[in-house]
Amino acid sequence: MNFNKVKTLKGEVTVPGDKSVSHRAVMFGSIAKGLTEITNFLQGADCLSTISCFGKLGIEIENGPDKILIHGKGLHGLTAPDSVLDAGNSGTTTRLISGILAPQSFTATLTGDASIQKRPMNRIMEPLSMMGADIKSIKGNGCAPLEIQGRPLTGIHYMSKVASAQVKSSILLAGLYASGETSVTEPVLSRNHTEIMLSHFGAQITTKDTTASILPEPVLEGRKIMVPGDISSAAYFIAAGLIVPGAEILIKNVGINETRDGIIRVAKQMGGNITLLHENRDSGEPVADVLVSHSPLHGIEISGSIIPTLIDELPIIAIMAAYAEGTTVIADAAELKVKESNRIDVMVDNLTAMGADITGTEDGMIIKGGSPLHGALIHSMADHRIAMSFAVASLLADGTTSIEGGECVNISYPGFYKDLAALSVL
Ligand code: S3P
Repeated sequence: MNFNKVKTLKGEVTVPGDKSVSHRAVMFGSIAKGLTEITNFLQGADCLSTISCFGKLGIEIENGPDKILIHGKGLHGLTAPDSVLDAGNSGTTTRLISGILAPQSFTATLTGDASIQKRPMNRIMEPLSMMGADIKSIKGNGCAPLEIQGRPLTGIHYMSKVASAQVKSSILLAGLYASGETSVTEPVLSRNHTEIMLSHFGAQITTKDTTASILPEPVLEGRKIMVPGDISSAAYFIAAGLIVPGAEILIKNVGINETRDGIIRVAKQMGGNITLLHENRDSGEPVADVLVSHSPLHGIEISGSIIPTLIDELPIIAIMAAYAEGTTVIADAAELKVKESNRIDVMVDNLTAMGADITGTEDGMIIKGGSPLHGALIHSMADHRIAMSFAVASLLADGTTSIEGGECVNISYPGFYKDLAALSVL
């Protein structure tokens, strides 16, 4: 796929529904009693993997044009799948569903694509095993495929080494079925969509500082869920609006949960002109329209407790940093190495190919911004966030940028190139 410089960007865009919230709405709707109706669901490959897994677990799911209907069967209504559950490229599906499968009364096997089969699952296998789960990596390498033999579980208090909402959520979901209370303490708070939505479905879940606790065997009841627009998808238009001269973009209906809004805080700190309009709340999640206009950016240091709130946005932040004056240092982000690709290596290789001054570190990157970038062959490594980041980088680069494997945007944003083209003034 080839991309060229644009004159500017103008107009409005509505980004698709939030990926994390869409996954959870299907999962929690499946284990709640009665009908769950989801609107603005993300029809991306990852969330469709979650639908397919719960279909195999005996849940009737109607995927209509404007809404998804989940005919939930309650906490104990799932049935044994007659084939392997395929999570595709989705870490959220793999890790969260493991927490739901561990306490069932049947055995299930769970796998995914080549990327998923390399991502660490020990981080959920360890705490779930402490609760009494029988979960094993079939190849013995700590990765999927996983075989999970359902067993009764006991609540634990887990001190997590990583700030990961997937780990936290996996344990809390297992805790719905365990005897006694289950709690998870994280080093830094990660996204809290599980806590917000499970409580909306009727779970007894409380949060204090970075500890979330859940009581077992609640009666979960079907709900209506309005999925907010995905701030991780909006991030590409936030960055594009800031770096392209003359640009002005209004991004409608974006989820601005404070455990996810690090991109807005960082962009403002870099000098970005960003205004939030029409702030509101949908199904417990705060939303707003985001207005961005071109701004001269400068480098900053990004580290510490803000990292989990922008972990998926670090590739596009690196692009902003390459176009900013001065040095940007990203630290405390070693998690980037175990995402859909090794996002430190992949950003360093591809930004270097475009002429940027970037160095990878053990837990982040150092980017000396300000030198003009040129088009290059970009290896997306089938990572959706890498492909979208470099489509944005191409808007200001001299010459043509070719993105190999660019169709991987279907994972989280199937209409991305069309939406970007609609804003482009050539
Ligand atoms: C997610 C949590 C984050 C994030 C991922 C989605 C979730 O992963 O990177 O895209 O929906 O819980 P980690 O839990 O591994 O940090």
